[in-house]
Amino acid sequence: MAMRLKDIHAVVTGGGSGIGAAIARALAEEGARLTLLGRRLDALEAVAATIPGAITVPADVTDRASIDAAFDAARAAHGPIGILVNNAGIAPSAPFARVTAEAWRTTMATNLDALFDCCQAALPDLLAAPAGRIVTVASTAGLKGYGYTAPYVASKHGAIGLMRALAAEFAATPLTANALCPGFTDTDIVAKAVETITSRTGRSEAEALAELTKHNPQKRLITPEEVAAAAVWLCLPASASVTGQAIPIAGGEVM
Ligand code: NAI
Repeated sequence: MAMRLKDIHAVVTGGGSGIGAAIARALAEEGARLTLLGRRLDALEAVAATIPGAITVPADVTDRASIDAAFDAARAAHGPIGILVNNAGIAPSAPFARVTAEAWRTTMATNLDALFDCCQAALPDLLAAPAGRIVTVASTAGLKGYGYTAPYVASKHGAIGLMRALAAEFAATPLTANALCPGFTDTDIVAKAVETITSRTGRSEAEALAELTKHNPQKRLITPEEVAAAAVWLCLPASASVTGQAIPIAGGEVM
């Protein structure tokens, strides 16, 4: 392995499961020093145990003080942050008329406000790095609309907008900011969505899964490793001119 990210400090939010865990493993395979940040310390520890040298820091990304403290702890262990992966997110579903103000606010706080806080908290390090990188795990829902997920769709559109804004603002620096836009990916979020569909509609698990994969021309779930491979590519020094992009990883689904 070429170790193309050797000793670069990468912070992955929501690194204790799914796409975040896969990205953390893939960055570590390229030599990055990993900090896994999240709320569930047991889940983070389980992933960290599989990544040599990885540390865990507890934080709720909806709380700026918690982020600041976690980033300080991360810097103390691994040095300045060179890669920020904004991955933590939630995906509640409900018909728009029944979306509560609380669900709207929580989704925005987790999927969008947290990006503002994490990017701002890491910015001095990222700008000082030789090739600072922000990779945000958005979604195809950041590029087009889907029913029954209005807060999610709105928050992910915002996430892509923020990456575009940062790419424009910092274009004269080595820092890049991009969004990955996976289609439905084989993780806990999708397992929960299948559960919701089966319990609310009486459909079978296979039918629920078919509903979720119907937009993907390949008719399958994306794997977390496929998303991780794209994240690694964006972080490579050779990807310096790729910035402000929203990259679908969605089996050819048309956006
Ligand atoms: P997941 O549920 O395994 O991962 C989400 C992670 O975020 C969990 O580890 C969770 O503990 C963490 N998290 C949630 N709220 C948090 C908070 N307030 N503070 C700290 N951590 C928090 O699901 P998955 O699929 O790996 O999701 C990762 C990202 O990928 C999310 O942003 C999601 O929107 C996005 N995504 C997922 C897709 C899918 O179909 N699974 C498709 C497109 C995007």
